[in-house]
Amino acid sequence: MITTERGTRNAERGVKTLMRPLLIALATGLALTSTGAGCRQKMADQPYYRPLEESDFFADKRASRPLERGVVHRAQRLETDPLVTGLTAAEWTRAREAGAVVAKLDAPPLTDAERLMRAIGAPRYAPSDPTKVYVDEYPFQITQADLKRGQERYTIFCAVCHGPLGNGQGKIWERGYLTPTSFHTKEVNDAEVKLKNPVEGLGLSRGYKLWGHRVPMDEAPVGYYFEVITKGYGGMPNYSAQIPAADRWRIIAYVQALQKTQRADAGGKK
Ligand code: HEC
Repeated sequence: MITTERGTRNAERGVKTLMRPLLIALATGLALTSTGAGCRQKMADQPYYRPLEESDFFADKRASRPLERGVVHRAQRLETDPLVTGLTAAEWTRAREAGAVVAKLDAPPLTDAERLMRAIGAPRYAPSDPTKVYVDEYPFQITQADLKRGQERYTIFCAVCHGPLGNGQGKIWERGYLTPTSFHTKEVNDAEVKLKNPVEGLGLSRGYKLWGHRVPMDEAPVGYYFEVITKGYGGMPNYSAQIPAADRWRIIAYVQALQKTQRADAGGKK
């Protein structure tokens, strides 16, 4: 038997070192048996529906419920905010009224949101004055960081068709997709394929042309770009689900940067 103080401590430590793995083994064993014996928390095991699964509870058998009218998304802006419309206040009011008229002709009745979708599809039908429909200022100040983000988002979502330089000659176009409108009124690249724009003149907006206006893409108001991204246009799908509103504006800022920088000469002129 060790009698010194230090000796006793060493002996205790020895016992502790031996005990520890034993205790751990015991605890693990207990934990395992208790799970097997049904002692686990019930929260992990509750009735639930997988998305779109059938349900007997609701009359229409849908377990995934449609949103109630008036539900507001946490990040939702007021619908009249140009940040989410790209429209001037006057055009917003007009579209709303026009929407109400369209809705009356339709059966079954549409929801408010559906009515607005009809009224403000791009290109908007019969705009009173296409030059006053869209905002021509950004709804927030564009910083260097916004521009960078815009560049990144443009490269992800637009360059595939519109090309990295915005001349409409992206990879998907190379493989036979419809030719997107060039964002430039001049060729930006010597290797560029010379194409006939369906609207006479390179870089002229086809949307504006439908309303009888000759608007080069580098003069089109930013709100117009916003609407095209949000609603799609002709052969171009809409990107409202993939790109949040603020990012759409950042993309537009980057498109404008492309328009100002491609083919810029030393004097800064195009
Ligand atoms: C799948 C290919 C595709 C993608 C991706 C795409 N576009 Fe388009 N875009 C087109 C085509 C094609 C047209 C021309 C549609 C037509 O004339 O019917 C077009 C037209 C446009 C117009 C309208 C020009 C006009 O003539 O008035 C704008 C603005 C535009 N795109 C911006 C964008 C932006 C910004 C993005 C990225 C968020 C984007 N597009 C992504 C194919 C695409």
